[in-house]
Amino acid sequence: MTSKTPIHLDINGHRHELEVEPRVTLLDALRDHLGLTGTKKGCDHGQCGACTVHVDGQRVLACLTLAAQAEGRAVTTIEGLAEGDGTLHAVQAAFLEQDAFQCGYCTPGQIMSAVACIREGHAGSDDEIREYMAGNLCRCGAYPHIVAAVRQAALEVAS
Ligand code: FES
Ligand code: FES
Repeated sequence: MTSKTPIHLDINGHRHELEVEPRVTLLDALRDHLGLTGTKKGCDHGQCGACTVHVDGQRVLACLTLAAQAEGRAVTTIEGLAEGDGTLHAVQAAFLEQDAFQCGYCTPGQIMSAVACIREGHAGSDDEIREYMAGNLCRCGAYPHIVAAVRQAALEVAS
């Protein structure tokens, strides 16, 4: 039997104490231990981007990150993106306006990547957006709408 270790995670500005085995990923900690199921598990092998979250403002794949590695760092998930009063983040609003999803399974990861992509200054053209969003797969093929949403949000954030 593997022993569990206590860790604390700062998720969307809230501190959580939990006891997990050292091998537990951040993705499983979020979904299975904290009930934050907005972050999706697609491949669980670092290949689809569905599990993208931010750690200290940088996008990471939660399926390739151990929960223990996130200890003491600020984690933001899709649940923490909107304002406290429910006002959507510009990227969330743009995804809605541009119809940038079909089944929606990839959408939280797409949105978290898009927020980082814009913040990194990598949303200057459609080609650049495609390049820096390439780690987020969409099996529904909503790519043209996703690029349009990122382009719209980037313009709004810049204005
Ligand atoms: Fe993490 Fe696919 S679930 S990259
Ligand atoms: Fe279905 Fe992207 S909207 S996987």
